[in-house]
Amino acid sequence: GTVVLAYSGGLDTSCILVWLKEQGYDVIAYLANIGQNEDFEEARKKALALGAKKVYIEDVRKEFVEEFIWPAVQANAIYEDRYLLGTSLARPCIARKQVEIAKREGAQYVSHGATGKGNDQIRFELSCYSLHPGIKIIAPWRMPEFYNRFRGRTDLMEYAKKHGIPVPVTPKSPWSMDENLMHISYEGGILENPKKHAPDGLFLKTKDPATAPNTPDILEIEFKNGVPVQVTNTKDGTRHQSSLELFSYLNEVAGKHGVGRIDIVENRYIGMKSRGIYETPAGTILYQAHLDIETFTMDREVRKIKQQLSLRFSEQVYNGFWYSPECEFVRSCIAKSQQLIQGKVQLSVLKGQVYLLGRESPQSLYNEELVSMDKQGEYEPCDASGFININAVRLREYNRLQKKVTAP
Ligand code: ARG
Ligand code: SIN
Repeated sequence: GTVVLAYSGGLDTSCILVWLKEQGYDVIAYLANIGQNEDFEEARKKALALGAKKVYIEDVRKEFVEEFIWPAVQANAIYEDRYLLGTSLARPCIARKQVEIAKREGAQYVSHGATGKGNDQIRFELSCYSLHPGIKIIAPWRMPEFYNRFRGRTDLMEYAKKHGIPVPVTPKSPWSMDENLMHISYEGGILENPKKHAPDGLFLKTKDPATAPNTPDILEIEFKNGVPVQVTNTKDGTRHQSSLELFSYLNEVAGKHGVGRIDIVENRYIGMKSRGIYETPAGTILYQAHLDIETFTMDREVRKIKQQLSLRFSEQVYNGFWYSPECEFVRSCIAKSQQLIQGKVQLSVLKGQVYLLGRESPQSLYNEELVSMDKQGEYEPCDASGFININAVRLREYNRLQKKVTAP
């Protein structure tokens, strides 16, 4: 049969490619350009040299931003209060294209290099099954005949040498990385000791906040429908509008100022805790900016409901259920909640921080006259007495009873 392998160009998936061929499969290598720093033409040559029947290199950056990152921005998606879901959002985007290729090529199988202990295997496979119910999945890292043969990096290196797989010339970093337009994650290796601090030089997308510039960049971000449509640097006047360009520019500015680093222990869906270090520069600015414009424009009670949906959405995305009825439902509700979320947010980016400076919106529910301490507005202060009295009924009764039952 034919298998479409999600190929990264690295040692692991190169060995998987050759191993799949050894098992008698025709292998189509698929490499998604999702914004990682990678020599794609080099990877193409490598895959072909290893015996891939065909190589697909697909630029999915624009759809990643517009169809996956933007809904996350609208949702204020965040997992366990800190993780902005950079890897979790990329998986359904990568898998969708993989399934498309499998269908186009009439391939019965798809394969990936995710381990048997992680979240990624779940995200890849649930996405594939959902979009292509008849597909069969080959997950080598869950197959005893594979993982008993490749018990560590030395086994992979040995196999590589034997089969003419180019072994990496640069020494491997002592941790594993996953990079895309939104973030880089660092996990495993020496980071598995949760007490051990991230070594200097680990971070690739952001500068150290301690040595970042002492002068801020001041940005104005304009939102429509809860998504950014324009970023202006108020210092040099540069404007950035298309989704991909705007997002890349925010990565650049945030990266320069060291914005978006976190170091956390999180709960994997599979049931274990894991330590991860993440840098999400643009995502962090957009999280803060969107939160601000949303609170400025959204009705209070709608916001409360939407906050609960956000929690559900984040969990669905983390757990791999992007293509599920519940996630589709939640996404459509969140999209509906964003119809009136528009306006401009001004913020400063400095030393690892995002500082909100001001906001304006034609859809704002903020009424300056109503809230002003200097004006009366359309409001009778004496009405507040009744409001407070009625709310106090319940509190009084509760306390009266407490005094009675606890009296000596
Ligand atoms: N723990 C994060 C998540 O589950 C990052 C996973 C990184 N994946 C990887 N293949 N290195 O979303
Ligand atoms: C992996 O297991 O392949 C990476 C970590 C994860 O998916 O959670």
